[in-house]
Amino acid sequence: METPELITLEIDGQSVSVPAGTTIFEAAKAAGIEIPNLCYLKELGPYGACGVCVVEVENCPKMLRACSAKVAPGMVVHTKSEKALATRKLALELLMGDHDGDCQGPCKLNCPAHTDCQKYVKEIAEGRFADAVATIKETFPLPAAIGRVCPHPCEKACRRNLVEEPISIAQLKYFAADQVRKDGNEHPIKVAASTGKKVGIIGGGPAGLTAAFKLAQWGHAVTVYDQMPEMGGMLRYGIPEYRLPKAILKAETDAIAALGVTFVNDFKIGRDADFAKFRSWFDAVVVANGAWKSTAMRVKGEELQGVWGGIDFLRAVVTGEKPDIGERVAIVGGGNTAMDACRTAVRVGAKEVFVVYRRTRKEMPAEDIEITEAEEEGVKFKFLYAPDEILGKDGKVCGMRLQVMELGEPDERGRRKPVPVAGKFEEIALDSVIAAIGQRNDPEGFADLPQTPKGTIAADEGNFSTTLPGVFACGDTVNKGAGIAIGAIAQANEAALAVDAYLRGGEYKPVKPILSERELTEKDFADRPRIARVKMPQRPPEERRNDFKEVNLGLSPEAAQAEAKRCLECGCHDFEDCKLIRYANLLQADCKRLHGDYHPGFVEQKLVTIERNQRKCVLCNLCVRVCANEAKQGLLGLVGRGFKTVIKPEFQNPGATAVCKDCHLCADNCPTGALKVIG
Ligand code: SF4
Ligand code: SF4
Ligand code: SF4
Ligand code: FES
Repeated sequence: METPELITLEIDGQSVSVPAGTTIFEAAKAAGIEIPNLCYLKELGPYGACGVCVVEVENCPKMLRACSAKVAPGMVVHTKSEKALATRKLALELLMGDHDGDCQGPCKLNCPAHTDCQKYVKEIAEGRFADAVATIKETFPLPAAIGRVCPHPCEKACRRNLVEEPISIAQLKYFAADQVRKDGNEHPIKVAASTGKKVGIIGGGPAGLTAAFKLAQWGHAVTVYDQMPEMGGMLRYGIPEYRLPKAILKAETDAIAALGVTFVNDFKIGRDADFAKFRSWFDAVVVANGAWKSTAMRVKGEELQGVWGGIDFLRAVVTGEKPDIGERVAIVGGGNTAMDACRTAVRVGAKEVFVVYRRTRKEMPAEDIEITEAEEEGVKFKFLYAPDEILGKDGKVCGMRLQVMELGEPDERGRRKPVPVAGKFEEIALDSVIAAIGQRNDPEGFADLPQTPKGTIAADEGNFSTTLPGVFACGDTVNKGAGIAIGAIAQANEAALAVDAYLRGGEYKPVKPILSERELTEKDFADRPRIARVKMPQRPPEERRNDFKEVNLGLSPEAAQAEAKRCLECGCHDFEDCKLIRYANLLQADCKRLHGDYHPGFVEQKLVTIERNQRKCVLCNLCVRVCANEAKQGLLGLVGRGFKTVIKPEFQNPGATAVCKDCHLCADNCPTGALKVIG
């Protein structure tokens, strides 16, 4: 046999010798150089449809498609030159401009921590509850607690809103956690071999615990220090028992300790050790000490006995202090802490409980369900009132003078501003006043750390590093201050990655991923059957207002599965393997830059178990060619001309699909999520 002639060329500075007739693509591959490609498959030979594999060849006036251009002696190829990358990026942007798919579900994108809601909802729908908990725990360690308290921004974005009501994502989350705890079948969590590095975390709330959970799994020795007698932070001391039973939270914090994390309670920086000394004990430190100070109302009479901060009152109840608030109590504020405070006041025996809020119910930041449940428990709402003065007698609260308000122009967040109505006031008799208008961090003991003008710790918004080497800070104590628990968890996940990178001698710089997202309206779901959201069973108000037992009774496995089955499965099944989005990220291609009209879009299933989604097809023709040449069937073809071209059964003949071998070769080779194996 004749030995083929060898051609020597240069690719990205490497000398490569390959047989004559080899494509540049294969030559690069032989040299270990990957050239992005969408429409190429070695077995099928060159095709040259997508343009993603372009390379620059010296002294060649045009860019060459590496999958079809052959090598030549002395050729000098650049696969990553500025020109090659720009042309490749343009090819990808052209393809993405006509690509109509959701890489990830809006639920996941709108969760601050990007918890994979779609995945665990599906696992619940399939009765795989332990898998669902494992999915949630890829992001954070407290599904039973967070499922109970989270104001669920995921549900606000849920596409099922366009049909009737969102999926009960948060309730499903805690259903799965409760069920798995009951069944005792949680998947064990793997802990990597010890790195020999020590991390100290200040604060045992959602942020500190999440950072500890992640860092322990990666092999670091973690100790969490907290000023309170038990771990959990605001979840334990700021959320009442009737919403989140302490025993459930304890089970989840115990599971973190079981990974080898050490907990040290009743420890306060500044009192038990100064920060510089604390730092010297560890290779890295995470400050996540939360926001434990109630914001003052700044009205006359605030110093009177009987005036409480919202979180101070809630904490006093949790720690068994039995605060004496008397019979008539007013809570000032409209957020969830105000709702927790008013409902707790009812439970500790107040006869008349008012919520004083300066706007109307519509503008209240508290969750609607919390307001409704408070009303059911007898709380009275005084809308469009603001505290003007707390009235006192013998040093104690005896009432409050309220300024009557009205709504003016919208503020920067679009909420109409409350403005005082000149000269209009009202007085109510009270025994105590609880100010639940906000909370802030306590900077005491952290003078070594840079602060923002707000008094919070200044940390990098991306990786939560501070100006002190090896010191990271996240959660309610940093930057913008107090927010929702899942927001603090999101920051802790980034901080944990940064700590891990630091301990391994590197630096973590988060990059915002490029994703394809669809814009849909009710019209897109007009044909969907309406299915009501499963209702959470609850204890009746007249019973629950007398004790701290949990209000919600939880979903049954059947109800949870039925609810989970309502999910529209918005995110793409192929996200992990999709070449299109991988290359778009690699080249930072802008999905929307060249967006115009879309190709005709439809989803159909005319092959045995292959669902074809034409909206995601980039017309690379691989499926057509693989069906004809590899499966030897030739069932698929390009139908239509120009912009109207689509992939359909050959000659639009549905009968042709009867001979489909169900080999899945088309789906396996599709570079995008346009072909899906179902069933
Ligand atoms: S096919 Fe790829 S780019 Fe398109 S939605 Fe699916 S994962 Fe995203
Ligand atoms: S329908 Fe399902 S996948 Fe879509 S946003 Fe809602 S929960 Fe997520
Ligand atoms: S469906 Fe066929 S033509 Fe469309 S992207 Fe997939 S393999 Fe290419
Ligand atoms: S044109 Fe070469 S891989 Fe598509």
